[in-house]
Amino acid sequence: MGRTGTVRPATHPLTGFLVTATIEIDHPTELAAGAGAVWVTHLGPGTVSRIDPATEAVATIKVGRGQGHAAGCPRRDSWRTVRHTASMYSDADAAALYDLLNPWGPSDDFYLSYLLEAPSVLDVGCGTGVLQHRARESGHTGRLCGLDPDGAALDRARTLGDVQWVQGRAADMAWDREFALAVMASNVFQVFVTDEELRASLATTRAALVDGGLLVFGTRNPRVREWEHWNPSNPLDVVDHAGRELRIVYHVESVTDDVVTFTETTATRDGEPLRVDRASLRFLDVEGLDAVLGGAGFEVEAWYGDWSRGPLTPTSDDIIVVARATRSTRPGEPLEDIAAERVKIERFPGWR
Ligand SMILES: C[S@@+](CC[C@H](N)C(=O)[O-])C[C@H]1O[C@@H](n2cnc3c(N)ncnc32)[C@H](O)[C@@H]1O
Repeated sequence: MGRTGTVRPATHPLTGFLVTATIEIDHPTELAAGAGAVWVTHLGPGTVSRIDPATEAVATIKVGRGQGHAAGCPRRDSWRTVRHTASMYSDADAAALYDLLNPWGPSDDFYLSYLLEAPSVLDVGCGTGVLQHRARESGHTGRLCGLDPDGAALDRARTLGDVQWVQGRAADMAWDREFALAVMASNVFQVFVTDEELRASLATTRAALVDGGLLVFGTRNPRVREWEHWNPSNPLDVVDHAGRELRIVYHVESVTDDVVTFTETTATRDGEPLRVDRASLRFLDVEGLDAVLGGAGFEVEAWYGDWSRGPLTPTSDDIIVVARATRSTRPGEPLEDIAAERVKIERFPGWR
């Protein structure tokens, strides 16, 4: 096992929860095998957080040599949905923190301009609903609908009743030609990491749109490799809505093909983890996007490289897509085949 030392009860210094074990280990990675519900994601001095299976509270395991962030819960496949340490930093806290870390910006202005032009809007992965709120405040009088699987985010969204808020996943949507516009703001598109979920989510989005409706979204440009900055040497210090001084740290666990899996640790300023969220995001390039959108019944009308509608180039941070729902979803044609073809994109000479 590589584990040495003693197992003894202790109390977590912040929460008072019972810590079930203090274990000295030679190699923290072996903790995963030894302690069951613990993933150790990187080494470093200090402590490792884990879920205590008995209480579902956070416990701390002191490791003999090195330590790391650990996500002590089963992985779910989308951002911010890992159930974790409700008592230390709740989902409601995390939703409030999201709004604090993501203030209104140029991308929101970009999306809002489409919302205000459309009589009916579906916000796929609406999160805390900021975009829809702003649209209503700005005088939108038509139908506004936001969908998201994250209940805590939706609780914040629901402070505005004049919007239809629906809890669920994109792939499970069942609207039939009801919306003139669908948006996936703040890189929601990237949460669809498997071919199946991506295809299903685009198919339901297409079905929710009237013929000729628009889908507008952005996705991070894989060529910029933004994930290379998601590491503990780039911590983010923030004071949250409750006045708590926090340090947010990212750590990439793996990059497999175009899927990046990483953790976001919400910690005290001295590094005590309060919450660890694990997520996977897919980074599709222009060719892959064009292919998968075509397969779902969309035709891309515009590609932009920034939120002022500047041209898309290989160094653009974002790939911004405006796609028209041209026809019903084309059945068959698996994404792998389409992607393998790597359709030649003649429309964007600057991309090569
Ligand atoms: C980065 S947040 C963006 C939230 C919001 N669109 C914004 O602009 O702030 C990504 C959102 O996607 C949601 N999400 C994750 N998986 C999803 C799925 N399968 N279908 C729809 N939304 C999903 C998350 O719950 C989260 O609220």
